[in-house]
Amino acid sequence: MLAEKMTNDDYIALLKQRLGEKRFNHSLNVAEEAVRLAKKYSVDVEKAYKAGLLHDIMKEEKPEIQFEAIVKSGMPFTEVEKSNQKLWHAMAGAAYIKNELGIEDEEIINAVRYHTTAKAGMTMLEKVIYIADFTSKERDYDGVEKMRELADVSLEQAMLEGLSFTLQKLVEKNKLLNLDSINAYNEVAAVCGKGNNI
Ligand SMILES: [Fe+2]
Ligand SMILES: [Fe+2]
Repeated sequence: MLAEKMTNDDYIALLKQRLGEKRFNHSLNVAEEAVRLAKKYSVDVEKAYKAGLLHDIMKEEKPEIQFEAIVKSGMPFTEVEKSNQKLWHAMAGAAYIKNELGIEDEEIINAVRYHTTAKAGMTMLEKVIYIADFTSKERDYDGVEKMRELADVSLEQAMLEGLSFTLQKLVEKNKLLNLDSINAYNEVAAVCGKGNNI
């Protein structure tokens, strides 16, 4: 099928082939939650739906295939991203939707690219996808209710909560921190009035 002719239903059919039932449902739920947040924060609903659907499209691919897709795309990545396999599916997903599905919208591509690490200077759409991945309806981790409440207060407060959660988990395990995540954390912490350390 010609990439530019693909509809959302085609994307859903493709996801069904590429993902197990659990992650397929997660993808639909993230898309639905992304639409809800997009409406709330006046973000492009169609882009939010597409990016939400596609954000984990490479997640069940073998790591070596994910890494190959990243390298082939020529996309820049950090040493920390290279060292953490869990981050590969976001970059590989961005490469896949651009190169295999022919999606040209940079904002959708970047929303997929940064849905796990975040980065400073994210657009509203990119923030919506980052948060929707935490607040989709099947999520049931400790603290999800707080995340959902914050997502309804402001995108930045929800991002601060999400980044704190992720960075703390990495620190607890003495893992490397990706600078993009730290920069995103500092940016939203300052926006949320947490910039003064005194
Ligand atoms: Fe993901
Ligand atoms: Fe996800």
